[in-house]
Amino acid sequence: MTLFSLKNKTAIVTGGASGIGEAISKKFAAQGAQVHILEFNAENGDRTVAEISAAGGKATFHSCDVSNTEQVAQIVATIAEKQYIDILVNNAGIAHVGNLEGTAVADMDRIYNVNIKGVYNCMHAVIGKMKEKGGVIVNMASIASSVGISDRFAYSMSKGAVMTMTLSVAKDYLDQGIRCNSISPARIHTPFVDGFIGKNYPGKEAEMFEKLSKTQPIGRMGKPEEVANLALYLCSDEASFITGTDFPIDGGYIKLNG
Ligand code: NAI
Repeated sequence: MTLFSLKNKTAIVTGGASGIGEAISKKFAAQGAQVHILEFNAENGDRTVAEISAAGGKATFHSCDVSNTEQVAQIVATIAEKQYIDILVNNAGIAHVGNLEGTAVADMDRIYNVNIKGVYNCMHAVIGKMKEKGGVIVNMASIASSVGISDRFAYSMSKGAVMTMTLSVAKDYLDQGIRCNSISPARIHTPFVDGFIGKNYPGKEAEMFEKLSKTQPIGRMGKPEEVANLALYLCSDEASFITGTDFPIDGGYIKLNG
């Protein structure tokens, strides 16, 4: 028996064309899933689909802003007409740097719309169909959800909500065979991190990369593929007893710092 097979399963991965989401899309396709990438960035969406196809996998790109309720509902309905949606990975997310005073209303709204309402939109669009035969949802939270990160007021707010929305859905849909868990990465080396360093520490990129790597007891940043491995496990039948739980993947950040 092949472990962690997603053969004959259909998966939606939001933000599935960069960093962690791209690694998840590729991993799931390699394990046999038909992957639907709901993604903002068309260039990366097309590239990721082409790379998955070249490797023998099945993937479709859907141009989508997860914060747009109508657009998400329409894309999910189109997919559901043809396939049963077994898996939803809510991975799309954006960042904001700033403490309470450094967070404007516009920042709050922007982070809320993508990181919270985007997750709501996708779960809301999928859940009615997923209730028919059960399924799995994985939401990308962050270590900010449980231990906070300094200077990340809006981001921490949003990732806390991702964790608690996960618990709510896990409880309410347990009887319908839907498992719902969250993953909380610490720093993972993706374009998200490179963008943050480039924007906030111009000219000091290498130094900051080193510094951020050392904030994790294991001494380095995580790799997107390492998060994808955990997402694969949680979405596979091998994780059939796991729901309503958050999984830190953090190089020891939460438990071993200090
Ligand atoms: P990334 O920036 O490399 O990829 C995010 C993807 O989401 C991009 O392809 C982007 O186009 C897409 N996206 C953004 N807004 C969207 C929207 N409104 N609609 C559709 N797609 C949209 O980011 P990365 O690092 O791979 O992060 C993925 C998730 O993991 C995010 O939710 C992030 O908060 C979370 N995370 C990342 C950590 C890290 O260190 N990289 C640590 C903890 C959590």
